[in-house]
Amino acid sequence: MSENFRPWVEKYRPRTLDDIVGQSEILKHLKGYVAQKAMPHLLFAGPAGTGKTTAGLCLIRDLFGDKMKRNQSYLELNASDARGIDVIRSSVKDFARAIPEKGIPFRILILDEADNMTPQAQQALRRTMEKYTQNCRFILICNYSNKIIPPIQSRCAVFRFALLTNDKVGDRIGFVAKEEHVKLSKEGLDALVYVANGDCRQGINILQAAGMLGENITADAVYQITGRVQPIEIKNLLELAIAGELTQAQEKLTELIDTYGLSGRSLVSQMHRELYGFSIPEEKKVDIAKILAEIDFRLSQGATEEIQLNALLAKIVLMQAKSS
Ligand SMILES: Nc1ncnc2c1ncn2[C@@H]1O[C@H](COP(=O)(O)OP(=O)(O)O)[C@@H](O)[C@H]1O
Ligand SMILES: [Mg+2]
Repeated sequence: MSENFRPWVEKYRPRTLDDIVGQSEILKHLKGYVAQKAMPHLLFAGPAGTGKTTAGLCLIRDLFGDKMKRNQSYLELNASDARGIDVIRSSVKDFARAIPEKGIPFRILILDEADNMTPQAQQALRRTMEKYTQNCRFILICNYSNKIIPPIQSRCAVFRFALLTNDKVGDRIGFVAKEEHVKLSKEGLDALVYVANGDCRQGINILQAAGMLGENITADAVYQITGRVQPIEIKNLLELAIAGELTQAQEKLTELIDTYGLSGRSLVSQMHRELYGFSIPEEKKVDIAKILAEIDFRLSQGATEEIQLNALLAKIVLMQAKSS
């Protein structure tokens, strides 16, 4: 693939544990494994774009150095691969039982999206893990560790990856922007960090998309690409509803829908995010959050957006009227 079209998330994927940002407690342990040239089976859990796959690959590189060879010293499989669980099962087994080549203590198999495996498939995996522990260590990756059967969890050291802080995501985006010579204004960077919401992959992908549109990355470009409304607009909308200004709030809503053409659910999710920054009593936030959840559910069931969003505003206005 030409370097020009290579996704920046791949191009700037950290190559060693030292280059990973955030997750410092986890990194400390992983570096310990490198120092000892030994590790147990690992389970990485947490939200997307926080460095799970990267940490696995960096660990392998730091451990194996130039002996890091796909299909020989390590293998990366995706449990929800279209080829089906039987193929996965046999590839896992074939890879895990082979004797590691000279110079490495064991092979490593990364199994991504392990939480998509059925409990039966996980049982089979557990047996393979046990049987071939000598030759092969597993790094299982998932979003939710509670979807992994307990006997596997108890055989692994479990690491929970947190969403990255805005500072860390901002640093990483700033770094990539500099390397790629894209002009990124302060407000552009803030907007990228906002839409990334702790997901570094998302942040870098949007940076790349925005970078293709023009020289300068503005906040407007970022919000447009992502179909998101400027947070300040959402804040205004909520403020109007909370202040009991139903007509004005509805006008604002129509304006937002017309200018941004955004989906009801993404609007509700943004409102939810802005809500917590408001200086209103906690109980009110809880009440509003409940209304948002209800409308989100109805939208997910296919209810008419315009009606639901107007009902949402009316409910917030009514709630305020009742409590004052
Ligand atoms: N903690 C991090 N430090 C540096 N870059 C990161 C980090 N997390 C994610 N990234 C960036 O996002 C991309 C996707 O990260 P990845 O490790 O695949 O996330 P996931 O947690 O979904 O496995 C990486 O290629 C890298 O560019
Ligand atoms: Mg991953």
